[in-house]
Amino acid sequence: MRHLLSASDLDRDAAVAILDTAAQMAATQSREIKKLPTLRGRTVVNLFFEDSTRTRISFEAAAKRLSADVINFAAKGSSVSKGESLKDTALTLQAMGADAVVVRHHASGAPHRLAHAGWVDAAVVNAGDGTHQHPTQALLDAFTLRRHLVRTADEPEGVGRDLTGTHVAIVGDVLHSRVARSNVALLTTLGARVTLVAPPTLVPVGVEAWPCAVSYHLDEVIADQQPDAIMMLRVQRERMGGSGEQAAGSARHGATGFFPSPLEYTRTFGLDARRLRMLPEHAIVLHPGPMNRGLEISADAADSDRAVIVEQVANGVAVRMAVLYLLLAGERETWG
Ligand code: CP
Repeated sequence: MRHLLSASDLDRDAAVAILDTAAQMAATQSREIKKLPTLRGRTVVNLFFEDSTRTRISFEAAAKRLSADVINFAAKGSSVSKGESLKDTALTLQAMGADAVVVRHHASGAPHRLAHAGWVDAAVVNAGDGTHQHPTQALLDAFTLRRHLVRTADEPEGVGRDLTGTHVAIVGDVLHSRVARSNVALLTTLGARVTLVAPPTLVPVGVEAWPCAVSYHLDEVIADQQPDAIMMLRVQRERMGGSGEQAAGSARHGATGFFPSPLEYTRTFGLDARRLRMLPEHAIVLHPGPMNRGLEISADAADSDRAVIVEQVANGVAVRMAVLYLLLAGERETWG
């Protein structure tokens, strides 16, 4: 069975192959060949137990542009709210003949369980599980970085290339971020250097084992290291205040909560016009969305010509077309 569960399951060649396929998909879209017949007769189920705008809509658009039939399932309004289990929901989808199940779940590990418990024959794609992984977000971020930072006159899409030589700063609420975890894995697999920048209270325990640097000083990283790209993370206030993951800084710095005050956070870790001016001229600004404007990113930074945030959303459709195509019609044996 073939699945995409974690960015860590992709080696360099697999990741480059997905990005190259996504470049081909993007080319078809820009030529206004909106619909390819590739997945005609296949069924893709979008199984969302947690809210989503970008991921859900772009998987739906991607599947439809490949001519697949799409079933959208949201936990709200379904029998999940009557207590139906993931297993029984999966068995129902299996009975409906799903070829791929795109799953977002609040529990880390739920897509892995769905893929390996034997409840469905379908390919499982992780669309974000808890604080664990969001592999297609990392792929669309890598795709966007490659297009801006690795393109050459001969190959404006960067086809065949990885991200060797680029430096990406990922800034903010790393503790709760599946986007950060996925990007650290994928971007470093692709040869990029990654620096995480966060308050100590929002850095997870065990980060020392991750293949990246960690800093608590955004101004220093921008001024001294001049990153090629800065990826601002959403402050996930909905995941704070519970008994969730432990922050490295809570013990190390004696902090009592997850969060500096919003004002302090913005002052110390927010991207604003002043910090934007400190970045190198070629540097780009990414954000996975949804944004907390005025908290982790100011309106002028979000709307600046450095920001590629809307382009990330568009690139997400091409990347998800590539993933569905390679899983359902391609030659790959496994991604996890
Ligand atoms: N980036 C992202 O996962 O956004 P959604 O929650 O809107 O899908």
